[in-house]
Amino acid sequence: MTQPNPAGLEDVVAGTSEICFIDGKEGRLLYRGYDVRDLAEHASFEEVVYLLWHGRLPNRAELDAFVQQLRSLQALPGQVLDLIQHIPPATHPMAALRTAVSYLGTLDPDQEDQSQEANLRRATRLVAQFPTLVAAIQRVRQGKEPVAPRRDLSLAANFLYMLRGEEPSPLHADVMNVALVLHADHELNASTFAARVVAATLSDMYSAITAAIGALKGPLHGGANEQVMRTLLEIGSPDKAEAWVKEALAAKRRIMGFGHRVYKTEDPRATILRRLSRKVAEAAGDLRWFEISQAVEKVVTAEKGLYPNVDFYSASTYYVMGIPFELYTPIFAVSRISGWTAHVLEQYANNRLIRPRAEYTGPTRREWVPLEQR
Ligand code: SDX
Repeated sequence: MTQPNPAGLEDVVAGTSEICFIDGKEGRLLYRGYDVRDLAEHASFEEVVYLLWHGRLPNRAELDAFVQQLRSLQALPGQVLDLIQHIPPATHPMAALRTAVSYLGTLDPDQEDQSQEANLRRATRLVAQFPTLVAAIQRVRQGKEPVAPRRDLSLAANFLYMLRGEEPSPLHADVMNVALVLHADHELNASTFAARVVAATLSDMYSAITAAIGALKGPLHGGANEQVMRTLLEIGSPDKAEAWVKEALAAKRRIMGFGHRVYKTEDPRATILRRLSRKVAEAAGDLRWFEISQAVEKVVTAEKGLYPNVDFYSASTYYVMGIPFELYTPIFAVSRISGWTAHVLEQYANNRLIRPRAEYTGPTRREWVPLEQR
């Protein structure tokens, strides 16, 4: 057997992929070779989805056709809307999303067809329906009627429209688009790896995506952005940041939104999200949360040498946009469904069961002891 790996499979190469490249030392992130900074500046989320799945950017005709296809698929089956009505309102939206996606799988019209074409159709439906799902879950939690998707808005703008019941400002639509581009894929992060492990058994795509949602929900992964906002709310003002952080570090608590398994310098997504957080704060005339974030970052960097990750500045950005913090991880999922499905399709296309070994550290061979003698 090969040498046992460090805890958490740190730096273990668990396979090959053509989808995403991360340079943790230099802080670079490429989707199919395109720098995420270029994509954040120029691309629509729909273009990025196409890129992740097909390995190249679409031309005008391909993009128009893809956008129309997504828009034709964004409405939810009535049974799913009924299910959402029966989920207890106190349920976390990520648990509701996990439940709804699993149920969606039972309604799939061509479940038996596991061809790549059928799985690409499934992936397209999932990317189209995730924004509608998350918005509907939130509206029902608030005791409101879900808002039906429109056919004349981008995926990012439609999500905010379905959430609020009114069209977002161009700034908010653009910021949401960039946030979705930034969260779309990230190599073998925990939730994507979970999806690939399930797909590698040749189980169905809904099972793989349900597993991924479960992994993303955790506070050490996608759940961190919601915890960041709770931290900022608890700190309350920039002048209280230093004491709060120092006390947390002294108590060996993790500061959510900092550190990363791969990046040993600033996460390039955090660099862009820091700018977006300031931009929406200045537009709203509410710099408080951005300034608390900056104060926290200053102390954590000085005290622990840790950098902010993608979750840190997305929190203040979404908060000033008026998005409830329990939706931050579901928004992460609205974007990452594109990367998850890209990896599941890649796994299916060139599959081998993913089954590592464990270094056994339990007791050596023991003899049976009858119950009366125990
Ligand atoms: C995402 O993998 C991905 O790509 C994920 C992601 C994606 O796009 O899919 O980038 C999205 O999940 C970002 C990460 C979000 N999570 C958080 O912000 C939670 C807080 N961060 C940490 O829990 C931690 O940094 C992890 C989980 C992200 C990474 O942890 P590692 O690689 O297992 O590192 P570690 O826990 O072994 O910590 C190494 C040292 C420790 O110090 P010592 O105990 O050795 O003295 O760094 C310290 C840790 O205590 N440390 C932190 C810290 N993160 C690491 N100390 C305080 N606060 C933190 N946030």
